[in-house]
Amino acid sequence: METHHSQGIIYRQPLGSETHLILDWVKARFSLGWVSEVEIALHQRPPRCLIAVQSGKLLGFACYDTAALGLFGPMGVDADSRGLGIGTILTQLTLEMMRTQGYAYGVIGWVGPAEFYQQVVGAIPIPDSFPGLWANRLQLPPA
Ligand SMILES: CC(C)(COP(=O)(O)OP(=O)(O)OC[C@H]1O[C@@H](n2cnc3c(N)ncnc32)[C@H](O)[C@@H]1OP(=O)(O)O)[C@@H](O)C(=O)NCCC(=O)NCCS
Repeated sequence: METHHSQGIIYRQPLGSETHLILDWVKARFSLGWVSEVEIALHQRPPRCLIAVQSGKLLGFACYDTAALGLFGPMGVDADSRGLGIGTILTQLTLEMMRTQGYAYGVIGWVGPAEFYQQVVGAIPIPDSFPGLWANRLQLPPA
């Protein structure tokens, strides 16, 4: 996909050699479940993922086709870089990638901030859709 620039931030697909850097970054900020999902996205060709980069620093990412085909997510922006519009651009560009690849709809699985997605892309809730495919997921053993 074409690289997009906005306010000194580059939005692009990750390189194969960046895989471990991105996974470490996700692990440090989010969950191991997200590490697993991002790994799936990064191992596809083309990667089902976009990253936001500024001066060689990773600011955020968005993936799709990880939990299941046609599902958008996970997505995350570094806590220090939130509120700058990065999440909006990542969402819009990633959904555009999905559209280009033939998807008619992008479903945000296990949505967190529903108001965010409603605001930036007009997403609407799917009634009775949670926990959906996560209903029988493995649980962490008690510590
Ligand atoms: C959700 C997230 C990706 C948004 O990224 P961001 O770069 O801060 O988003 P933007 O700067 O593009 O915000 C766009 C608008 O959405 C609003 N918004 C941002 N995060 C929001 C949230 N969690 N809930 C509701 N609204 C939110 C912003 O206030 C902004 O509104 P404004 O234009 O009126 O000021 C980021 O907060 C994040 O990484 N959160 C933790 C991980 C997460 O929840 N990921 C999504 C899982 S489904």
